[in-house]
Amino acid sequence: MAEHDENPLVVALQTLRTEALARLGHLTDLTALDTWRIDYLGRRGALTQVMRGIGQLPTAQRPQVGQVSNEVKTALEEAFEARVAALKQAQLASTLAQQPIDVTLPGVPVSLGQVHPSTQTLREIAAIFSDMGFQIFDSREVESDLYNFALLNMPPYHPARDMWDTFYINERVVLRTHTSPGQIRAMQAYHPEPIRVILPGMCYRYEAITARSEIMFHQVEGLAVGTNITMADLKGVLVTFARRMFGEDRQVRFRCSHFPFTEPSVEVDMDCLVCGGKGCAICKYSGWLEILGAGMVHPQVLRNGGYDPEVFSGLAFGMGPERITMLKYGIDDIRYFFSNDLRFLEQFG
Ligand code: DAH
Repeated sequence: MAEHDENPLVVALQTLRTEALARLGHLTDLTALDTWRIDYLGRRGALTQVMRGIGQLPTAQRPQVGQVSNEVKTALEEAFEARVAALKQAQLASTLAQQPIDVTLPGVPVSLGQVHPSTQTLREIAAIFSDMGFQIFDSREVESDLYNFALLNMPPYHPARDMWDTFYINERVVLRTHTSPGQIRAMQAYHPEPIRVILPGMCYRYEAITARSEIMFHQVEGLAVGTNITMADLKGVLVTFARRMFGEDRQVRFRCSHFPFTEPSVEVDMDCLVCGGKGCAICKYSGWLEILGAGMVHPQVLRNGGYDPEVFSGLAFGMGPERITMLKYGIDDIRYFFSNDLRFLEQFG
């Protein structure tokens, strides 16, 4: 090294290094650091100037001066990076010192969503009917007037259409007012095979929203078609359903009713869950709660679905899962289901 030291350029480089490193040690902000970098390592910086001069040196001196200048360059670059890192670290530490984070605090629990009460009931209904051999058949929510009414034995202008307040998309297309049109779709899809399906889904009615009626709600339709299906099957299926859904000792009552698509038609009641049949405000002092509508599929409806009513018969029923949920949990207002109030929804975790 001694002979290098005698070379004035090498001496200048080493002085440059000492001076640059000394200056660097005093810098305390990133702007000043950047100025330093430009002064020494920039395109017009001190070190760069020296390195440019190497080409003018006598050939014998070039390798030595080149080597030293590279060493100085690497030393300065490394010192610069280290200084920047140290400064950033110090800044972070002082920010943290001003806004301390208490790592010993308990974590914030992540709240998980849960299944909507209507969906829970839909799943329960599906499980019960699945055990009785019913499969799920999906049908459309936007229906034609033909399927929603006409093929269910309600031709245009039939007064029974008034039972369903209807959202019309246009003269021929409606939002389905019940899941019953799915009966026709299922029959057309399956005939001439026997059928055992439930059809769950959303229905819509053009009604004032009150504690007892919503403009959108679920229904679950049931349909079985075969060569030997009787009213006894209908009763067996529905009593089984009521007891599995609401408890083994439920009393079930079949009351004469009328629907255009069933003959005969019934409405099914069970003894009041609240008073056990004695009579209370919930059952309007009748002792009974209505749970669904049902009947034997009307011959004309079987025919519309492609089945010969001389050979085939069918049972059908339709229920509202929101109503079922209300009865089961003593909920007195259907509007809770679709108002997104977490105080209600969180009770069904
Ligand atoms: N579709 C009827 C309604 O919305 C309910 C119903 C009654 C469905 C009797 C049926 C049935 O399948 O047989 O009010």
